[in-house]
Amino acid sequence: MKEEKIPYDKQIFVCTHDLKGEKPSCGDHQGAAIFKELRRVAKEKGLHPRIRVAQATCLGQCDSGTSIMVYPDDIWFKNVQLKDVDELIKKFFPE
Ligand code: FES
Repeated sequence: MKEEKIPYDKQIFVCTHDLKGEKPSCGDHQGAAIFKELRRVAKEKGLHPRIRVAQATCLGQCDSGTSIMVYPDDIWFKNVQLKDVDELIKKFFPE
């Protein structure tokens, strides 16, 4: 095992887990679409992978709409909707 510093300035974990309606999940609330759009813009702006947008398969808050957690900012978003992506881009992707 080799210990290193985290190789990213920021990690934005977007839950894309989809339980297909069997139980509440972020898949019921466009989690995958939110992830894809954030990742697309991060790449377009040349920020990825320094600012890494990653998929998470369940963050343990499945009843809260789509969940996003951001390190090292120590921020949790719940009930994120596709219309919120522009605000997230302004907040986390520097010009
Ligand atoms: S399915 Fe997203 S937090 Fe569990």
